[in-house]
Amino acid sequence: MRAEDVLSAPSLKYRRILLKLSGEALQGAAGFGIDPQTVDRFAGQIGAIADSGCQVAIVIGAGNIYRGRELTRAGVERVTADQVGMLATIMNCLVMQDALERLDMQARVMSAVEVNEICEDYIRRRAIRHLEKQRIVLFAAGIGNPFFTTDTAAGLRAVEVGAELLIKATRVDGVYSGDPEQDSAARRFSSLSYDQILDQRLGVMDTTAIVLCRDHGIPLRVLDMNRPHALLRAVQGSDEGTLVYAGEAPAA
Ligand code: GTP
Repeated sequence: MRAEDVLSAPSLKYRRILLKLSGEALQGAAGFGIDPQTVDRFAGQIGAIADSGCQVAIVIGAGNIYRGRELTRAGVERVTADQVGMLATIMNCLVMQDALERLDMQARVMSAVEVNEICEDYIRRRAIRHLEKQRIVLFAAGIGNPFFTTDTAAGLRAVEVGAELLIKATRVDGVYSGDPEQDSAARRFSSLSYDQILDQRLGVMDTTAIVLCRDHGIPLRVLDMNRPHALLRAVQGSDEGTLVYAGEAPAA
């Protein structure tokens, strides 16, 4: 689809989005590693929003391959643990790129650390050009520095490429007042502000990521990718999961 068509696509509320996919989401029922069927299913959903004309950038975490926190607890130095995590995100991105290409989608992995025998380096202007050409761009290796999460990488890349919405796909279908897996009284917010998340210490993303998105006015939608059409509904602006907004509450 050409850029002009993207602008005129009637059913799209957001023309360029950044999807943050947790690494754990890719492990399927196996509890570790990459489950090819799960990746293929997610690729199908991502392909559907790209087909609808939405320009899609993706950041994938690494928790399915390497849990940095557990390793540092076991004595591995934090910088080393984070570097291994960055490499793990590259693996996840390569597998997702492959799944998208098998669906005849065009995809490009761009890494924040140089591994250009394997994928492109991250160059902001080139990433934007890929998006304009309707290619799905997968940002790998976080921001290339230790001590920053892939949520922060997602927020930063969203700002850099001018994404209109950040989507965080998790196992939970939105933001709750407590942990819904522990507390049956926890209720799901339909929408709330970034400041409410900070005030109430709701564990949606780390503070760096929250502040980045808030200060740059990028809304966030938290949803469960396992719900059919969740992604498509989000880019159409439907009430899926929870909307987190910067500033004033959007008109209903
Ligand atoms: P346009 O220039 O817009 O046509 O983009 P393009 O990505 O199709 O063209 P390019 O010639 O830049 O890339 C062709 C193929 O090589 C694509 O699959 C790229 O992802 C890949 N590629 C480009 N740069 C690198 C790199 O530094 N390392 C690796 N491994 N692949 C690269």
